[in-house]
Amino acid sequence: MTDPALSQPSPNDHIDAMLHENRVIPPSEEFAARARVSREQYEERYRRSLDDPDGFWSEVADELAWMRRWDEVLDWQEPHARWFVGGQTNIAYNALDRNVARGLGDKTAIIWEGEDGTVRTSTYSELLREVKKAANALTSLGVQQGDRVTLYLPLIPEAAVAMLACARIGAVHSVVFGGFSVSALSDRINDAQSKVLITADAGQRRGALVRLKENADQAAQNTPSLEKIVVVCRANCDAPMQEGRDVWWHDVVGAASEEHEAVPLDSEHPLFILYTSGSTGKPKGVQHTTGGYMVGTYLTTQAVFDLREDDVYWCTADVGWVTGHSYSVYGPLLNGATVVLYEGAPNHPDWGRFWEVVQKHRVTILYTAPTAIRSFMRQGDEIPSRYDLSSLRLLGSVGEPINPEAWMWYYRVIGGERCPVVDTWWQTETGAIMLTTLPGAHPSKPGSAGLPMFGVEPAIMTHAGEELGPDDGGLLVIKRPWPSMLRTVYGDDERYRKSYWGEIPGVYFAGDGARRDHEGYITVVGRVDDVLNVSGHRLGTMEIESALVAHPSIAEAAVVGRPDDVKGECVVAFVLPQSGFEVDPKVIRAHVSKEIGALARPDAIIIADALPKTRSGKIMRRFLRQIAAGKEIQGDTSTLEDPGVLDRLAATQAV
Ligand code: WT7
Repeated sequence: MTDPALSQPSPNDHIDAMLHENRVIPPSEEFAARARVSREQYEERYRRSLDDPDGFWSEVADELAWMRRWDEVLDWQEPHARWFVGGQTNIAYNALDRNVARGLGDKTAIIWEGEDGTVRTSTYSELLREVKKAANALTSLGVQQGDRVTLYLPLIPEAAVAMLACARIGAVHSVVFGGFSVSALSDRINDAQSKVLITADAGQRRGALVRLKENADQAAQNTPSLEKIVVVCRANCDAPMQEGRDVWWHDVVGAASEEHEAVPLDSEHPLFILYTSGSTGKPKGVQHTTGGYMVGTYLTTQAVFDLREDDVYWCTADVGWVTGHSYSVYGPLLNGATVVLYEGAPNHPDWGRFWEVVQKHRVTILYTAPTAIRSFMRQGDEIPSRYDLSSLRLLGSVGEPINPEAWMWYYRVIGGERCPVVDTWWQTETGAIMLTTLPGAHPSKPGSAGLPMFGVEPAIMTHAGEELGPDDGGLLVIKRPWPSMLRTVYGDDERYRKSYWGEIPGVYFAGDGARRDHEGYITVVGRVDDVLNVSGHRLGTMEIESALVAHPSIAEAAVVGRPDDVKGECVVAFVLPQSGFEVDPKVIRAHVSKEIGALARPDAIIIADALPKTRSGKIMRRFLRQIAAGKEIQGDTSTLEDPGVLDRLAATQAV
């Protein structure tokens, strides 16, 4: 049985391939023999995490430092969880002071490589000193515990320093991806009511300067809560500075004292807000808190990446996404790892750049996205073969379903058939990895994320909340709270209740379709809501539609995803011109880039005279998806007001 709601065309062409994939790839004996978690240990610990969650999570949390120990592990008043209730801690203290105290002061914490090849490294002691100074600087600018600070930065070490400095004083950071537009930035500053913005003069992307400060200035025309802008000098370009409002990072941080005590914070004190697309037009401010997020990212980084003392760990995500929060900054630093950060594009100056970074810094663990893997695969095996990739021992994938072909390429060409590949499923909302195989414990099945992490109890259900058995396609849900889960949607708890705990009573609704096989491996096939996954990044169709109709030449718009060999999905926009106007595709693409960001730019625009609507006026996106993919129309078209519209749209050339 398959949930009828899911019988719509698959959001991704790879799914068919996945259904027929039956390769099983066990870890090498050598890897398994040294792994931090063996198969038996996984079984034992997983069982315990469900049967005795208090005992299990207490043991993990006790490996970290608390200024006050918790009274109660979990207080669950559905849908609100409080973890480590009554405990006080500080995640920056745990990532830095604690590691320095246990003798890692001279260990390299961050190896940063700029797109131009500049390398900067800092040890745990140096990073701690910098974070203390930045914490003092923020305090001197008037930032208090609980205040929101927006970060709009390139992937430079200061991004990690700024996040940790906020965490150190209990300010709530809200990182906005540097590729987002002026209006995306001002919307997020306004939603969070941020007092301070930390940005840079410019970032570097494919050799060009991205003038972040100019965007920040434009955004700030429209953000009454903003009092100060702190500007990191990254590119030495003359950023205009506004007297009384703007200060240079090197001035304020440079002048600040190196003495600073991390503030003890309640376990449930908000740590950060991160905006992500939902199925309505307005992005959701996903809110995470201190204690549970810390414990979740600490444990998963250690177990999933089999982290060891001498690893050089590189997660390629930008800090603008949750992967960058949990697995470039917090998780690995909590574990005292050496982290590589690379600022630029994967193809600058050419498609060998990632492999050059791996070779140069002797990277042992690489965590990247299927879209990147597919782009590399397209360039052929010859480019990676020019580099020494023998330092690698483990590979990870995240962000979207990985098709078995790309999985096998990653395993064979990058991993030399020596490195296990972990395909990790999780979300901005889950804070930490939820489904994966553990590299030394489980065989991989290419295309399938795998088994639940400790404490995670997944199920596949119908919309009506019936649990489905093996091989039935349905909705992925999580049946109990976990420490790193989101606590609410910032400023909109009702939306939190409805979107996550209101779809199916009593369980967390992830918004993904999935299947579980007879061995418990879960294959996540893609979103079941109006959310697209373009290059591993979430975009709401409604968000793009509202940007489109905001343009004077467009009267109405409907956006759908189309399977794409590299991006996973790409954006297809059906638009109705405003009478008396002509739609210029160039202008429209530029407009969407400006409104949201380049990521949301439509790949295809179909200029239509009508959209397929039901008699009650609802747009039937299901048919638009079929047309966008160039497929035969399937399904009942009799509810359409004007069924003829489908043929007309199918005959229209995209521009
Ligand atoms: C959505 C979450 C979590 C880090 C980056 C994305 C999709 C993520 C996988 C995977 C299949 C995946 C899901 C999910 N997704 N990882 N391994 N296999 N799908 O975070 O922007 O919050 O997006 O990405 O659809 O719901 P995000």
